[in-house]
Amino acid sequence: MTTKKSHSISVFINNEYPAIDRGEGIYLYDTNGKRYIDASSGPITCSLGHGVKEIAETMKVQAEKAAFVFRMDFTTQVLEECCSRICEKTGNVMDKVFMVSGGSEATEIAIKLARKYHIENGNPSKFKVISRWLSYHGMTMGALALSGFPSRRADYVPYLAGTYHIAPGYCYRCWFNKEPETCNLECAQALENEIMMQGPETVAAFIAEPFSGMSLCAAAPRRDYFKRIREICDRYDVLLIMDEVMTGFGRTGKFFAYEHYDTPPDLMALGKGIAGGYFPLGAVAATSRVIDAIAQGSGIFAAGHTWAGNPLGAAVANKTMDILEEQNLVARCAEMGEYLGQGLEGLRSHPIVGDVRGEGLMRGVEFVKDKETREPLDPALMFWIDLHMQAQSKGLVIETSGGCDRGQAGDMAMLGPSFIVTKAEIDQIIALLDEVLTDMEKKLGM
Ligand SMILES: Cc1ncc(COP(=O)(O)O)c(C=O)c1O
Repeated sequence: MTTKKSHSISVFINNEYPAIDRGEGIYLYDTNGKRYIDASSGPITCSLGHGVKEIAETMKVQAEKAAFVFRMDFTTQVLEECCSRICEKTGNVMDKVFMVSGGSEATEIAIKLARKYHIENGNPSKFKVISRWLSYHGMTMGALALSGFPSRRADYVPYLAGTYHIAPGYCYRCWFNKEPETCNLECAQALENEIMMQGPETVAAFIAEPFSGMSLCAAAPRRDYFKRIREICDRYDVLLIMDEVMTGFGRTGKFFAYEHYDTPPDLMALGKGIAGGYFPLGAVAATSRVIDAIAQGSGIFAAGHTWAGNPLGAAVANKTMDILEEQNLVARCAEMGEYLGQGLEGLRSHPIVGDVRGEGLMRGVEFVKDKETREPLDPALMFWIDLHMQAQSKGLVIETSGGCDRGQAGDMAMLGPSFIVTKAEIDQIIALLDEVLTDMEKKLGM
C-alpha cells in the first residue's frame, strides 16, 4: 500500500491501490514484495509479458536517435516499416495505416476516414455511424457515443449525440430469443433495418468488435455474422469498421480476429497489443477503397493529434512484431488459449458460472444466480467488483465488468494472460479462480 496521500486520480477515487514496483513475465510485484499474476494482461494489453529487455533497449535506441518528428513535416523509416508491416499482416488487404496514441483515438480516426471517403465520393449526406449496444469503442466523446456500454456512458450521455445502436451479437442472452437451431442472424439483419430507418443516403459506416471487449467479455456472434453484415454494408455503400483494438495482434490466436469470420473490414481500429503493452499506441488501417477515394479526390486528410505517427511508438510496434514472429507467439496464443479455455470449462461445475466463451487468450466467464434460467445476480451485490477485489487479494489480477443483461445487471470476468504464459501458470490461474469462486459462492449461500 502507498503510505502517503495519493495525488493520482483512479477509478475508485477513495481506494488505496497497491503500488507496483516491477513486472516479470506474467507476474507483477508491489512495493511490499507481494506477487500478483497478471491474468488479464492489464485490460488485455500486455501481450508479451512484463520486463522484456529488448523492448526497453529498442525504446532507448530510438529515443536517442529521434523520439519525435512531426508528421506534417517528415516521415521516418521506422514509421514506414511499421505501417507496411501492418498492411502485410493483412495480406495487403489494408493499404495504408494511420498511427495514433491509443484505441479511442483509433476509433475517432476510423470514423473520420469513413466520413471523408463519402465526402470525396460526392456523398456528403452520409455521416451517420451505426454501432451496437453492449459494445465498447473508447472513452473520448466520439468513441463513447458509439459505445453501447451503459455504465461507461451514463454520466456523459448529454454529450453523446448522433449515434445509433443495434442489438449485439450475444448468443448467451440473444435479444431475439433464438437458439442456435432457430437463429437466422436476426442480430445482423437488425443492421439493414436500422439503415433503412435512418435512410441509406445518410449512413456512412457500421462499427463492431469481432469479439466483444469488456462490455460482453469475449462474446461473439455466429461465424457467418460478419459475412451477412458485409453484404448489408455493401448493398448500401456503408463502410464496415472493425474495432480490433483488443483482438488485434494475435490475441484471439489469429493475427487479426476478422480472420475467424473470413471477412476483412474496410477500416480497422487497432491498439493495446500493437505495442505489446510497452507504449501508448493505436492505429487505423484502411483499404485502398477508402484511401483511393481520398487520394484521387482532395488528397487531404486533416485529422490526427500531435503524437500521431511518432517514431518511438513505431519502433516499439516493430519490435513487438519481431518478437511475435521470432517466438511464434500467435500460434502459442492459440494453443495456450485452448488450454485456458479447457480450464475455464472445468469451472462450469460452479453453480455461479453460467457461460464460458472466447478464443485464443481472450476468454470470458459470465456469472449467474440460476444456470437454468440464466437469471443474473442481484446487481446490488456488485459481484463483479467484489470478485475483482477478492481475486486481487489472493494475488490474482483479473478484469471484471457488469451490465451484460441490457445494462441493468450481469457480471463477467475476462481472462487473457500474455502469450508467453505456460500451462503450469494457467493451472495456477484456474486454481486461484476456483478458490475465489468457492469462497464467494459460500458468502452468497449458493
Ligand atoms: C474494443 C476496444 N476499443 C477501443 C478501446 C479504447 O482503447 P483505449 O483505452 O486505448 O483508448 C478499448 C479499450 O478497452 C477496447 O477494448
